[in-house]
Amino acid sequence: MLDIALDNAIADHRTYGSVEAQHRLFGRLRREDPVHWTQPVGYRPFWTITKYADIIEIERQPDRFINAPRTKLLSIEFESKVKEAMSGKPMLVRALPQMDNPDHAKYQKLTHAWFQPRHIRTLSERMAALAKDSVDRLVEMGSACDFYNEIAIYYPLRVLMTILGLPRSDEERLLKITQAYFGGGDPEMQKGSDLIDATIAYVDYFKDVAQERRRNPKDDVATVIATSEIDGRPIEDFEAYSYYIALASAGHDTTSATIAGGLLALIENPDCMARLQRQPDLLPDAAEEMVRWVSPVKHFFRTAAADYELRGKTIRAGDSLLISYPSGNRDEEAFDRPFEFIPDRSPNRHLGYGFGIHACIGRHLAKAEVVAFFRELLSRVERIELAGEPAWTETSFLGGVKRLPVRYSAR
Ligand code: HEM
Repeated sequence: MLDIALDNAIADHRTYGSVEAQHRLFGRLRREDPVHWTQPVGYRPFWTITKYADIIEIERQPDRFINAPRTKLLSIEFESKVKEAMSGKPMLVRALPQMDNPDHAKYQKLTHAWFQPRHIRTLSERMAALAKDSVDRLVEMGSACDFYNEIAIYYPLRVLMTILGLPRSDEERLLKITQAYFGGGDPEMQKGSDLIDATIAYVDYFKDVAQERRRNPKDDVATVIATSEIDGRPIEDFEAYSYYIALASAGHDTTSATIAGGLLALIENPDCMARLQRQPDLLPDAAEEMVRWVSPVKHFFRTAAADYELRGKTIRAGDSLLISYPSGNRDEEAFDRPFEFIPDRSPNRHLGYGFGIHACIGRHLAKAEVVAFFRELLSRVERIELAGEPAWTETSFLGGVKRLPVRYSAR
């Protein structure tokens, strides 16, 4: 039996403002109570699942462990605010992460082809050009910058806006909404907005996009969603806006956090940086290791549809489970030297993109983005090092560094 302070720490967004504190906490859970009944003050209870093998066992059974209606950790107070804002519905959006089969398969199919490697390859020139723009900007800034706030947050947003077909002039607006959406309790990131405000701001934005695409269809994902049919009927507005929000939000800070956290890993491991500068062909492997290392998505929830035995514990039908991806990705039984950053780690079957039917649809895109970015950066920058203390977003859901001061010299 572990103490209440530990349960509170699992839910407390401040825990995640320190990578060491996060890993200390989850390391202890993996050792002492890997299927841990968690009852933090102010939250409905849940099981915290920290072992790699258990996460796979759960995620590979989507009929036994469903996604709706509780997909992430929110306080009881915030859950009731959501219900109030949504006229009784427990969810602010209904997109792939909030869906189970048969709907999940129907909605996933709509954009499936757009996110397959074959289509991602057609974007490679555009992506390389956007990576080049970002590194040009870094070089123009002289010899120092806050790599996260001045470089890393813009590049994935621009890639995403290209896929969705959104104009560059909307960039600052979308950036602000996404940061508030994922601020997760960190006052510096949320800047006064909460998840409900940010969702409303997203809907306001995407409502116009959907209407525009229905009038003037284009060759972009925004049009695919706006003009799609489900069971022979046009997609409902709520589901269409939710789909946009899922892509815009899930596709942005996940990737910027990976790029910024990946750079920090290279700065802390100069031999790896030098090796990747010499052997850029290792970048696809290094991109996977960066996702394992950073694990920007801290958790998703599942709900047990029936009673289930796991490591001698009985999970009751209706119980919620918090799946800890960063913990699975540091599991000593699943990875050799899990606390070492190994750019050509092989095999590297990490859980950073999740697993099973809900595994990230944007994973091929994200990998291509990370590779294109580091290919450009490492060929143009001679030396890059820390110029101050990095800081991490205080969020239990999604995020990584929020400040990364670096100094560098270009070749
Ligand atoms: C390094 C970057 C990324 C990471 C680490 C990441 C991670 C994840 C994780 C952990 C999940 C949940 C998986 C599960 O429940 O098993 C997920 C789902 C999802 N991701 Fe990503 N993601 C990234 C980039 C992207 C991009 C670029 C997009 C789209 C443009 C995207 C769109 C989605 C969507 C729509 C889902 C929901 C899938 C479903 O429930 O079926 N992600 N991602």
